[in-house]
Amino acid sequence: MQKSAAESILIISEVMMPSQANVAGNIHGGEIIKLMDSTAYATARRYARSNVVTARVDELEFHLPIFIGDLVICTGKVIFAGNSSMEIAVTVEVEDLEHEGRQRALSAFFTMVALDKKGRPNKVPELILTSDEDKLAFEQGQLRYESYKTKKRQKK
Ligand SMILES: CC(C)(COP(=O)(O)OP(=O)(O)OC[C@H]1O[C@@H](n2cnc3c(N)ncnc32)[C@H](O)[C@@H]1OP(=O)(O)O)[C@@H](O)C(=O)NCCC(=O)NCCS
Repeated sequence: MQKSAAESILIISEVMMPSQANVAGNIHGGEIIKLMDSTAYATARRYARSNVVTARVDELEFHLPIFIGDLVICTGKVIFAGNSSMEIAVTVEVEDLEHEGRQRALSAFFTMVALDKKGRPNKVPELILTSDEDKLAFEQGQLRYESYKTKKRQKK
């Protein structure tokens, strides 16, 4: 089975509330990471059509602060598919709702593993790449995948 990277895109949005912030009004990093994990989960589950779990997070970066009242737009996209694992690029954009425009606030790569009904790693569909951007993202995801495999072999 094959599925396209472009069609895997999934977006979750949420307005940030005071209970998610510190006393200065900055939203806690963990609140945004949870939203990113939920986005990666939903993107991967819809792609694999099975249960999925988070195995790894690479290159998590906080580019901008997020404040109470901001709209957070979290986008997930499958950029690499192995045998049972998938890499989901998750980006977070922020909009303050009183001004035009969005800015990139966070980004990360989530490795999600598809599981069958017995909790064993399960084959995922092959990823179809239709643009140069998708091909580049796939190659970069493959490098992280191979780097993990090499490190794992070296630990044995
Ligand atoms: C993810 C998990 C199912 C993998 O189990 P495993 O016995 O290591 O399975 P395998 O070695 O066969 O690996 C399965 C796939 O996951 C990938 N994988 C496993 N651990 C990984 C890691 N730490 N980083 C990146 N990829 C990983 C493997 O590369 C492999 O990919 P492939 O099938 O595409 O080649 C298992 O480690 C687990 O259940 N972890 C906890 C997950 C969880 O609970 N997450 C929520 C956090 S609270």
